[in-house]
This record gives sequence, C-alpha cells and structure tokens, in this order.
Amino acid sequence: MRAAQRLWVAQAIERIEADFQRSADTHLIPLPLPGFPSIDLYFKDESTHPSGSLKHRLARSLLLFGLCNGDIHADTTLVEASSGNTAVSEAYFARLLGLPFVAVMPRTTSPEKVRAIHFYGGSCHFVESPAQVYADATRIASERKGHYLDQFSNAERVTDWRSNNNIAEAIFQQMQREPHPLPRWLVCSAGTGGTSATLGRYLRYRRHDTELCVADPEHSVFYACWQQQRRTLTCTEPSRIEGIGRPRCEPSFMPQLIDHMVKVPDAASVAAVRELERLLDRRVGGSTGTQFIAALELMQQMRARGETGSVVTLICDSGERYAHTLFNDDWVHQQAFDLPHWCQRIGQLLAGDAAPLLAPRGD
Ligand SMILES: Cc1ncc(COP(=O)(O)O)c(C=O)c1O
Repeated sequence: MRAAQRLWVAQAIERIEADFQRSADTHLIPLPLPGFPSIDLYFKDESTHPSGSLKHRLARSLLLFGLCNGDIHADTTLVEASSGNTAVSEAYFARLLGLPFVAVMPRTTSPEKVRAIHFYGGSCHFVESPAQVYADATRIASERKGHYLDQFSNAERVTDWRSNNNIAEAIFQQMQREPHPLPRWLVCSAGTGGTSATLGRYLRYRRHDTELCVADPEHSVFYACWQQQRRTLTCTEPSRIEGIGRPRCEPSFMPQLIDHMVKVPDAASVAAVRELERLLDRRVGGSTGTQFIAALELMQQMRARGETGSVVTLICDSGERYAHTLFNDDWVHQQAFDLPHWCQRIGQLLAGDAAPLLAPRGD
C-alpha cells in the first residue's frame, strides 16, 4: 500500500514536471510612453500561462508542496479558498492528476472564472462574504477527508524565492539586454501577498537596489497593515478589484519586504484598464490597472526628479475574464465610478503633466 502510494506521488510529480517542461516563460512587454522619454516601462505578461494568470505558478507550487509533504494522494479531494484565479489554475492541475477539486469563492466571482473551473472539471461552492472562504474551505476539506491547499497561508513558502524560475528571476534575466537592466521599481499588487514576498526576498538575496512597490485597491486591509505595522486590522467591504485586496492581513503578506505602498481608488484602476486597452491593444484585468496607476505615480516622481531608469510591473490576467464587470458599462455605472475624470488625469500625466496622479494620503 505504502509503495503504491509512493509510486502514485512520484508519477504525479512527474506529470507536473512534464507539464512545466512543455511550457515557455511569459513575455516581458515594453510599453513606450512618449511622455516619459527617459523611463522605460515593462509588463511581465502572466496572462499567457496555460491557465490564464500569474496564479499558474502558485498552483503548480502548491500542488508540488502538498505532494512532497505527503498530503495529496490518488484519492484526495483538493479544496481551495480563492477569489477565482488560483482556483482556475488549481483546477487545471487537479485535472492533470485526475483529482476532484472544489473551489470556495465569493458569489461575486466573475462567471468567466467559474466557467473555467468547470471546464477543468472542478466544482464551486459560493459564500456571501469574502471573509467566509477560509472557514468553509476548512470544513469542506475536513468533511471530504481532502486537502485544503490554503494559498493564503502557504503562498509565501511554496515558491523557491532564490531561483528555480520564479517570477523575480525571470524578470531580471529578461531585463539583461535592456537600456536600464536593473529596474528602479518593481510594482505588483497583493491577494495572498505571495508575489510580493517572492519579489522582495529575491531583491535582498541578489543584493539589488531595486525597490518594491505594492499597489492596494480601495477595499483592502493591506495598505493600513503596512502603514501602521499592525496585522490584526480587518476590512469589511469586499474588494471590487478581483484577485487583490483582502479582508484580513493574510499570513503570506510580508510587509517588511515592501518599500512603498500605493492606495489606488477603484475608479482609477478601472480607468487604467480602459487606457491600457488603447495603449496595449488588448484587455487586461483590474489588478493590472491598479498596478499601472502605481507605476505611473512612481514614474511621474522619477520624471520630476530628472531620473532615468526602468519600471517593471505585471499583467496579472486577461480582461477576457471581466466582460461582466470591468468592460460592462452598466456595472461601471452601478459602482458610480467617475471614469472620465480618471481617464483625463491619466491622459494628462502621459502628456507630461507634473501634478501627482493621486492625492497624498493623510493616514
Ligand atoms: C488578478 C490577480 N492579480 C494579482 C493577484 C495577487 O497575487 P498574490 O496572490 O501573489 O498576492 C492575484 C491573486 O489572486 C490575482 O488573481
């Protein structure tokens, strides 16, 4: 029995490694902005992973972690708490291994993500409040004698942050032949906090001067946790930028690795997504818009100081996952977002306006 279990685990790991071997790295896309002639902006396009987002990397690592810890066997039901993207990627890997998968998600999760989870053979359990996902995932895993993958606790520890093709190593390799190979800033956002933990650790490990900025949406606790150095804070309103912004300071969020945080109004994130559609000729997800606003703010400060250099951020997922929200004018209207104001402000900044994009925060 033990030998059979061990053989299945070995074969499962081999299947994941073969899947990795078939995959290519994601592109690093430059976005020339004439208003910033001395500053180069790049997007690491994580939407091109087979399961459509940056969470493909995390899902692979969580599955390998569970297999190597002896928590996943041939008959294990995998369970996860997610705002959608991680669940899509885990459903992809669950199908690869022939395991049942249950995603526990807020009812507001985009129908496109729900459809993708079903496409990979997973099932969905919906909760009314984002803060409920943890308890329900724990309960369902226990009822089914399954394994709760628990991205919010494990994201920071399942990734090999020193190297092994993590996102940070890939960025620095792909930047090697650029005019400013060492970025002045890396800009990401936080759901689990895993991406920012990997980037922050890698910067220290490689002794790079590059600083890490994390962009946080309106309804999220991360900015206040970082600012006030308090992990016990909570936020009751659900985030409108899917994938980022959390009600609690997730265990994988490591504020001590973050040099700067920017609180981005949701209306600005959505306007940024619309502007990026024009600039990149493609649709990106909301968190990419949030990060773009933070990147522009930093670039504007660099320009004001006469600095040259590069800034690298991510395309976390594709806008195709948000046809019912970000790209639906009725949804935008319901949220009372003033998109014309923000599109105008972004346009002015891109044209060389020296005024800051975001008002300084008093908190
Ligand atoms: C669209 C999107 N952007 C950004 C993130 C943040 O990534 P992390 O969980 O590594 O903090 C997520 C996480 O789910 C996401 O789905």
